[in-house]
Amino acid sequence: MKPLIVANWKCNPTTLEEAKKIFKKANFPGAEVVICPPFIYLSTLGAKGAQDCFWEEKGAYTGEISPKMLRDLGVEYVIIGHSERRKYFKETDETINKKMKAVIKAGLKPILCINKISQLPAKKQEGLIIAYEPLFAIGTGKPCSPKRAKKMRVLIQRKMGKNIKVLYGGSVNSQNAKDYIKEAGFGGLLVGGASLKPQEFLDIIKAVC
Ligand code: PGA
Repeated sequence: MKPLIVANWKCNPTTLEEAKKIFKKANFPGAEVVICPPFIYLSTLGAKGAQDCFWEEKGAYTGEISPKMLRDLGVEYVIIGHSERRKYFKETDETINKKMKAVIKAGLKPILCINKISQLPAKKQEGLIIAYEPLFAIGTGKPCSPKRAKKMRVLIQRKMGKNIKVLYGGSVNSQNAKDYIKEAGFGGLLVGGASLKPQEFLDIIKAVC
């Protein structure tokens, strides 16, 4: 199966023009690439991934975006529980679990980010994708060694079933991308900083396809 490459743009870029440029360049035939831009660019770009969502379908929840709304736009994947959401917005395993269930209920695929085994859901979930992102590796330029990452991948699959797709994320670049797929056996990558640099991102895609 082709590796799934997910681009987490976070709160970038600051203009729609720039977003269009980066999005256009990430188009590589034959690759499974999911771009997750900020919500406001989703519709114009026709991107397939979102960085977060709310757990309710609709109602009096100022500022929130529901999985149903995302689905209506053609979104297929939603990142849930990213460590920055946990850290800056005080998301807990409990609220993240609610989001995961709402995403599945809406017919979307959740990409649940974890940095430790205790953050895995208690039960196996159909359609769930896990992204293992060690905290020390996120945005630091200090990637986890493929050997160490592999140990976590094996533990995750032992708990969640060997067919579950597990992505690696944390300082992925065009030099190390292949090692996580070929050496550590991950089913794909979650790429932050490097996904905003068009040439570097293309090189990541080429390295693993
Ligand atoms: P990074 O971010 O690739 O910039 O380390 C990964 C992430 O936060 O998902």
